[in-house]
Amino acid sequence: MAPQLTSAPGSAAAAGAAAAVKPQFHHYHHHHRLPPRHHHPSLPSKLAFWSVCSLALLLAFILLSPSSAPAPRSTSESPRRSLHTSASSTASWGGAAWEKKVRASARVRRARGLSVLVTGAAGFVGCHAAAALRRRGDGVLGLDNFNDYYDPALKRGRAALLARSGVYVVDGDIADAELLAKLFDVAPFTHVLHLAAQAGVRHALVDPMSYVRANVAGLVALLEAARAANPQPAIVWASSSSVYGLNSHVPFSEHDRTDRPASLYAATKKAGEEIAHVYNHIYGLSLTALRFFTVYGPWGRPDMAYFFFTRDILAGRPITVYESAGGTHQTTISRDFTYIDDIVKGCVAALDTAGRSTGSGGKKRGQAPFRTYNLGNTSPVPVTQLVDLLEKLLKVKAVRKVVKMPRNGDVPYTHANVSLAQRELGYQPSTDLQTGLKKFVRWYLEYYHPELAEKQKQRGSNNGKVHVVTTAA
Ligand SMILES: NC(=O)c1ccc[n+]([C@@H]2O[C@H](COP(=O)([O-])OP(=O)(O)OC[C@H]3O[C@@H](n4cnc5c(N)ncnc54)[C@H](O)[C@@H]3O)[C@@H](O)[C@H]2O)c1
Repeated sequence: MAPQLTSAPGSAAAAGAAAAVKPQFHHYHHHHRLPPRHHHPSLPSKLAFWSVCSLALLLAFILLSPSSAPAPRSTSESPRRSLHTSASSTASWGGAAWEKKVRASARVRRARGLSVLVTGAAGFVGCHAAAALRRRGDGVLGLDNFNDYYDPALKRGRAALLARSGVYVVDGDIADAELLAKLFDVAPFTHVLHLAAQAGVRHALVDPMSYVRANVAGLVALLEAARAANPQPAIVWASSSSVYGLNSHVPFSEHDRTDRPASLYAATKKAGEEIAHVYNHIYGLSLTALRFFTVYGPWGRPDMAYFFFTRDILAGRPITVYESAGGTHQTTISRDFTYIDDIVKGCVAALDTAGRSTGSGGKKRGQAPFRTYNLGNTSPVPVTQLVDLLEKLLKVKAVRKVVKMPRNGDVPYTHANVSLAQRELGYQPSTDLQTGLKKFVRWYLEYYHPELAEKQKQRGSNNGKVHVVTTAA
């Protein structure tokens, strides 16, 4: 069956309202036509006319109101096109074959396993987390809109990798309430790992509304779907270390203030934490926020420094290294770089320890867990040292352009205190930057420069040490 375009519920309702109103209007004219010489209606006629108009407007308003116009459920036979497609999205969903794929992907394959909806599964952290859950036999369904904030081909690559291990990534938007309702209908997820977001600090200067759409409106749409689901899932979601904003007291602890964000990205993550609290308080959703600290690794994000430094160093292009505008801990910017495998372990532990949501039928039946954890590496490294390491691994000298950090949303220094995650999640980061970067560089070369990777491999096989990382595993 050819995919059908989903008409916006608003336009369907408007058409319905117009249809309901129009005949009455004709009817009125037919029976109350005035004599030809009177071109103006009499007072009672005027009143009747305006009453009908007011009623029509009221009816149209009621029908158009989102809260009173539940989106029609798609039948299992008719594929639908997402209402919120991005430039790169070819989102269409629905139909019996699609539902079968969703069910198969979400099916748990081990005793007491979880069934997890992973949003942002075609993203960097999402693809690794989804793969890890799938490897241990959990049911995993991905959801991603494959937007073009960075190369969608990389996202498609990650999704293809997941498909090979039996994880289906639905091409759709977290703000599509109809799609979310359908997903919860088809697969009763026990957990949601919500990672979809508009990430990156600097892009907010270019497209601020994308942060509001994904990180605020998208989060609310997801929480709405989760609170309405029966059973309600427990939700673990990605906040960010950026909520610590301009704090200078380090290491950052969960008890520190988070009311001085330095970027719109940080502000939307902070807003997300508050919004999550509301859904925990009113609806009894189990909610865990994870504040990630600069995550890096294979299949990483091209908008992050370690990634584009690697690209530019290899291309012989100068790289811009920021120097702190002054006063704080270091003259160069430092980050608590955290390797992807450590972050994934933290995500999985948070899912495993998340207590149940207590609501049903949209009503809270008791107190549900509300948790917040830092997931970092606990050892900040100056960005200049990151560049030194990359030079060594790539065997190419970087052309450095050192400039004062502009006020673009970046903060000079991040450092996680992870003792809470250690205690409650058993979180123990174990990969230092040098080891992690080595794995990233191997993947990068294999993915973008297979000829260089081959050379390195040959050199490596001579001393028996190098092996090329080609999958998210
Ligand atoms: N990587 C880091 O260093 C880091 C640090 C702190 C917090 N985080 C947070 O962790 C999460 C994962 O980050 P990442 O590095 O994997 O980023 P990413 O951009 O690689 O992944 C996010 C994914 O979400 C998808 N997405 C965005 N908006 C969507 C929408 N409306 N509907 C459906 N899908 C949508 C994107 O297409 C992308 O694939 C994000 O919430 C991010 O803010 C990441």
